[in-house]
Amino acid sequence: MEKWQRIWFSLSSTVTVTLIITFVVVALIFCGSDSRFFSTTSFDPVHDGGPKLRQLSFSVVQLQSFATASDSLAPPFLASNSSAHRSVAPKKKKGVEEGLARARGAIRREKAAWNRRNRSLTLNAPPSFIYRNPRAFHRSYLEMEKRLKVYVYEEGELPIVHDGPCKDIYTTEGRFIHEIENGATRFRTRDSKHAHVYFMPYSVTWMVKYLYKPMTYNMTPLTHFVSDYINVISTKYPFWNRSQGADHFMLACHDWGPHASRGNPDLYNRSIRVLCNANSSEGFNPQKDVSLPEIHLYDGNISPKLLSIPRQTVPRPYLAFFAGGLHGPIRPILLNNWRGKDPDLQVHEYLPKKLDYYTMMLQSKFCLCPSGHEVASPRIVEAIYAECVPVILSKNYALPFSDVLRWEAFSIQVDVEDIPRLKEILSAVPEKKYRKLIQGIRAVRQHFVLNSPAKRFDVFHMILHSVWLRRLNLKLN
Ligand SMILES: *[C@@H]1O[C@H](CO)[C@@H](O)[C@H](O)[C@H]1NC(C)=O
Ligand SMILES: *[C@@H]1O[C@H](CO)[C@@H](O)[C@H](O)[C@H]1NC(C)=O
Ligand SMILES: *[C@@H]1O[C@H](CO)[C@@H](O)[C@H](O)[C@H]1NC(C)=O
Ligand SMILES: *[C@@H]1O[C@H](CO)[C@@H](O)[C@H](O)[C@H]1NC(C)=O
Ligand SMILES: *[C@@H]1O[C@H](CO)[C@@H](O)[C@H](O)[C@H]1NC(C)=O
Repeated sequence: MEKWQRIWFSLSSTVTVTLIITFVVVALIFCGSDSRFFSTTSFDPVHDGGPKLRQLSFSVVQLQSFATASDSLAPPFLASNSSAHRSVAPKKKKGVEEGLARARGAIRREKAAWNRRNRSLTLNAPPSFIYRNPRAFHRSYLEMEKRLKVYVYEEGELPIVHDGPCKDIYTTEGRFIHEIENGATRFRTRDSKHAHVYFMPYSVTWMVKYLYKPMTYNMTPLTHFVSDYINVISTKYPFWNRSQGADHFMLACHDWGPHASRGNPDLYNRSIRVLCNANSSEGFNPQKDVSLPEIHLYDGNISPKLLSIPRQTVPRPYLAFFAGGLHGPIRPILLNNWRGKDPDLQVHEYLPKKLDYYTMMLQSKFCLCPSGHEVASPRIVEAIYAECVPVILSKNYALPFSDVLRWEAFSIQVDVEDIPRLKEILSAVPEKKYRKLIQGIRAVRQHFVLNSPAKRFDVFHMILHSVWLRRLNLKLN
């Protein structure tokens, strides 16, 4: 991303204000009965005192703000017995809704059992400490496998629809589209009437490639495309109008995904937008939107160096590592403070030729993951692969899958203001806690791996599960 593109983004800071208004309007439309079955996030932006966006501010190491001690045991994963779901348009969807009601009941029972401290798990599961409520998650996952049906619109043509990038930085965009369209997925249905969610398989990355004219600063071709697409499907089928888009989803890893989604107000305000650029200050709403992990596959594959990590304790001589361009607001702070300052903290803009990026990750205890031009960083997933504890340096970033995962079990978050104290903070992590973090990383890895074809519990399934959770929050009367 170029500097001028950021300028475009900064123009959109008024979005915050728009969003506040939006929340009020949406709440009114939903007759004030907007208490949800799930709170899909740990940082719930909607408060009793009136809808508003809360700024995320990360505190030092292990984030009290992110999870209190009891949080892992009584997370906001499923709100207690609430009959007041988000309600929309009075049109029947009986079979589908009955199935969802049963799923809600089953998940709620598991959630309650865990909260009563019944720790027996139904699945042969990885260590439960990486989950907010392991029983609720596993039940929800199984219910998803049993029931979830996705209708993928067939409208639209190559190259922008039905395809997406499958290598480089926006990999997750193309891989998801391919998997849901062509993979051996049990989730796709051709029977549009019995779907739970409707997917619009266009690629924002390809829109930028084929529709955007470089240096024009003009993104209207993208918003027009999205707007036209929704006009077509909402005229041809009854589904969009029935829910005003609330049971529809789009997915984009490109930084401009949020902007493209402005092409239709209902898409922006009501649909599930699955985005890498999950910036809660730029309209990302964790209650209905999904944070998509960014995974950088240079030639379409994970580097062989990260594929299998030696299980024995190999020496990690460096305390922390970062190498990357001076993009965005946070990296200059990091580089100004630490570049060339301390041999324990390997902080580089460009890595010297003699050093190898992934080898450096494998030789470091902590991998620094500052936001760049967008909040997401592919380093987070690379660090998980490298068993190098990710240190999240970001603001307003809704972390992927944080409605089910306890990020504090496998990463560390450091407030941007504390970057000058980075060495002190990381050195102070006790050995015992470090070992536990590594254990967490090993347990969580499967949720961040891209497989082709997809495998249970991998990143494809976790993305779908996030969509499923948001669909559970929606009740079509
Ligand atoms: C839970 O929901 C059921 C069915 O809607 C209702 O009968 C029951 O009273 C509710 N329980 C609580 C504690 O709200
Ligand atoms: C704990 O949960 C398991 C699995 O659902 C169940 O079989 C068992 O009876 C529960 N134990 C208690 C003490 O409630
Ligand atoms: C959905 O609503 C739009 C706008 O009101 C309308 O033009 C369109 O015909 C409707 N679609 C269907 C299938 O009725
Ligand atoms: C969201 O909805 C509000 C109210 O309908 C509308 O004014 C606003 O433009 C919408 N947002 C976007 C980005 O379309
Ligand atoms: C997130 O959004 C805010 C508000 O527009 C912006 O100031 C900030 O730079 C964004 N973060 C990133 C990393 O782009």
